[in-house]
Amino acid sequence: MQKLRTQVGIVGAGPAGLVLSHLLHLEGIDSIVLENRSRQYVQERVRAGVLEQGTVDLLTQMGVGDRLRKEGLVHYGIELRFRGRGHRIDFRELTGGKGITIYAQAEVVKDLNDARIAAGGQVFFDVEDVRPCDFDTSEPKIRYQKDGDEYELACDFVAGCDGFHGICRPSIPAGVLTEYEREYPFGWLGILADAAPSAEELVYCYHDHGFALLSMRTSQIGRLYLQCKPDEDLTQWSDEKIWQELQLRLASDGWKLTEGPVLQKGVTGMRSFVVEPMQYGRLFLAGDSAHIVPPTGAKGLNLAVADVQVLARGLTQFYKTGSQDFLNQYSQVCLRRVWKVQRFSWWMTSMLHRFPEGNPFDERRQLAELDYVTSSRPAATTLAENYVGLPMEWS
Ligand code: APR
Ligand code: PHB
Repeated sequence: MQKLRTQVGIVGAGPAGLVLSHLLHLEGIDSIVLENRSRQYVQERVRAGVLEQGTVDLLTQMGVGDRLRKEGLVHYGIELRFRGRGHRIDFRELTGGKGITIYAQAEVVKDLNDARIAAGGQVFFDVEDVRPCDFDTSEPKIRYQKDGDEYELACDFVAGCDGFHGICRPSIPAGVLTEYEREYPFGWLGILADAAPSAEELVYCYHDHGFALLSMRTSQIGRLYLQCKPDEDLTQWSDEKIWQELQLRLASDGWKLTEGPVLQKGVTGMRSFVVEPMQYGRLFLAGDSAHIVPPTGAKGLNLAVADVQVLARGLTQFYKTGSQDFLNQYSQVCLRRVWKVQRFSWWMTSMLHRFPEGNPFDERRQLAELDYVTSSRPAATTLAENYVGLPMEWS
């Protein structure tokens, strides 16, 4: 068995793991990132693409914002469309100048990998059978295999940044964590299309047939979604049928949806999920390994980035002063934000989707809610301030 040592062992090279590794590097703290997929796979995986202002600011401060600032599309509003009419929520006006940036998660991951490697960082891809151990002692380890050889990475702390299906959360002994979960009776069928986006800003649409979303990756590539069954059979959805349904749900007077070749399609289920606490001994869970939000609020990546900022602060304090005060507060500080973001994502989801068990009362209530949000300034402000990202709170 080959032995290695680092200060912080990080499982998972998604946004959480890579941002954490780079933040620690900037504070002079060593880490090794262990990822079970290939670099190409994590850089090409189609995921979300909306960055809060705070996420953009952090990436910029970390020195990984150059391409993001050049290629990202800055938006200062979104449209809510219902009964065939669009209503703009003006973020700039409602939040004192804040906006969001459209830049694919895959590009963020590429930029972070490049930055880690340029700085001599250690990110090991294609590792197998990762096992965090002894994290209830002061000498945690991560065992894993690579190219058939067994390794043991000794570290001071383990960061579980390995997503919802990762190994870190299930490694914590039974009975320690409490899980809070809600599954939604629908999913999203998403396409990436070689078609210039038909609107400048994102369009969230409520329709009798279900929710639809017009988003984008670049000024040439569209990203569109349709509410579907959670286990929708993609083989039943030809490209033509997908466009037909998008045309129908998004239809609005005087507006045209431009079609184009479908480059990729997939179905994602939707759930809200949180574990408490987000720490056990010297194992800290961050990002999707600790919580999942439905995508309607575009919050998954941003919440992962918020977690690792709190974790990096705690680890920095520990290495600079020996104090574990901030580390001890990690879970509590993160969970305050997590639950507010859960609330917002649940609210957006509930307002905009058709529930199979819904009745005409619920539909009228949803339309009244959309009418209220788009006609009352205080109501629009609560949407706007959550969408652009709540301020970081450190206690
Ligand atoms: N060993 C090593 N790596 C693992 C393991 C394992 N057992 N299990 C999963 N991983 C890796 C995954 O391959 C992935 O690259 O951990 C990484 C987790 O990354 P993400 O799933 O992207 O999660 P996170 O970094 O928390 O990012 C937040 O926000 O937009 C949402 O869900 C979206 O990915 C996004 C997330
Ligand atoms: C996306 O572009 O993938 C996207 C945008 C907004 C959302 C969810 C996903 O709410």
